[in-house]
Amino acid sequence: MPAVDSLPGPKRSKPLYSADDVTVIFVLGGPGAGKGTQCAKLVADYGFKHLSAGDLLREEQDRPGSQFGEMIKHYIREGTIVPLEVTIQLVENAMTATIEKEGKRMFLIDGFPRKMDQALAFEATVCPSRFILFFDCPEDVMQERLLNRGKTSGRSDDNAESIKKRFKTFIETSMPAVDYYEKEGKVVKVKAVDSPDEVYEVVKRKLKERGIEAPKLKFV
Ligand code: C5P
Ligand code: MG
Repeated sequence: MPAVDSLPGPKRSKPLYSADDVTVIFVLGGPGAGKGTQCAKLVADYGFKHLSAGDLLREEQDRPGSQFGEMIKHYIREGTIVPLEVTIQLVENAMTATIEKEGKRMFLIDGFPRKMDQALAFEATVCPSRFILFFDCPEDVMQERLLNRGKTSGRSDDNAESIKKRFKTFIETSMPAVDYYEKEGKVVKVKAVDSPDEVYEVVKRKLKERGIEAPKLKFV
């Protein structure tokens, strides 16, 4: 994926992509709610491109020579939100590369927006979203999943101390963005406690209600 070389230039007066041309679905939910797991299923059946903001940030963090590496590392370990300019530029670059190289124009943007300012800035300058797929899961279930994942993920934030901070950020900083979209009638909420396959059945049904159906052919 292309890296961020510099912060974005002057603000655009309209989004780079229009909602008629490019489909953006934001995938939200607490840490460990199963966003990545469900996105992988949707990619296989629907042909979406899955872009995880967290994965893009970790990639940039590890890119030799990145001027943002140290900063990203700090925010991720503390479970706080990286300044929007960096994350938005990474997502935009990944979208543009996907459109140019793969010709795909349907995106699941996972773990984004995690803060109100990110939501507004992205929709004003990159692409308006179609709706928000929100995975609703109690903290005790998410915590157990994250601690389990931490045994093998190698992630600096899948430990009890970081998880606690991530939950706090989710409630205080990320939920207001979900609440904002809820008021606009844009949130598709799915309970995410059951097994991945059971949750996925509900996801498919709810996407259909929003006019999105899987083509007959599989994508992988
Ligand atoms: O989504 P994921 O759990 O992979 O995100 C890991 C971390 O990346 C978050 O806890 C946060 O520090 C950072 N992040 C961010 N802004 C986003 C997505 C992730 O700052 N939109
Ligand atoms: Mg994830």
